[in-house]
Amino acid sequence: MIRALDTKDIPFIVSARNIDFCDGWNGAMLESAFAGGRFFGFVAEDSGKAVAFAAADMAADTADLEFIYTFPEYRKKGLGTSLVRAVCDAARGRGAVKLFLEVRKSNLPALALYEKAGFVKAGERAAYYGDGETATVMVKEL
Ligand SMILES: CC(C)(COP(=O)(O)OP(=O)(O)OC[C@H]1O[C@@H](n2cnc3c(N)ncnc32)[C@H](O)[C@@H]1OP(=O)(O)O)[C@@H](O)C(=O)NCCC(=O)NCCS
Repeated sequence: MIRALDTKDIPFIVSARNIDFCDGWNGAMLESAFAGGRFFGFVAEDSGKAVAFAAADMAADTADLEFIYTFPEYRKKGLGTSLVRAVCDAARGRGAVKLFLEVRKSNLPALALYEKAGFVKAGERAAYYGDGETATVMVKEL
């Protein structure tokens, strides 16, 4: 089951981040993003337990996929794909015509997921991540 992401999910997202989810989001940033009204996302549940999530931010008539995460034991079961689809549908519903994202050049599972979901490479951002790694920028027409 997939449901909308909510402020009550913030502790869960932060705990996942502490395990191995290494984007720069913390609890305060998530609170502020939700308060801004342009931030939205989805959670995949298994028997009531949250096992994957994704979120995006609107920016005028485009949206940015901010993060997506599936707990390791639930990977390769299609949850990431379902969440990307939900984010695309919601972004389109909010008026976005394109969905952008940045992904580490070395993150082959995520790159494969995005390509399969219809994203194409739009460029690179050198030293985008704190450790100096380059980001691949991808975009999907909605
Ligand atoms: C990237 C990630 C979200 C994929 O989630 P998922 O639920 O496993 O995704 P899906 O099951 O929908 O996989 C869809 C496709 O992605 C690709 N893929 C997923 N995991 C892969 C892997 N380990 N190696 C290669 N390709 C992979 C495959 O093409 C897969 O399709 P297939 O199963 O038909 O072969 C998950 O691996 C994850 O949480 N990684 C850590 C966090 C992260 O890197 N997030 C992205 C940057 S914020």
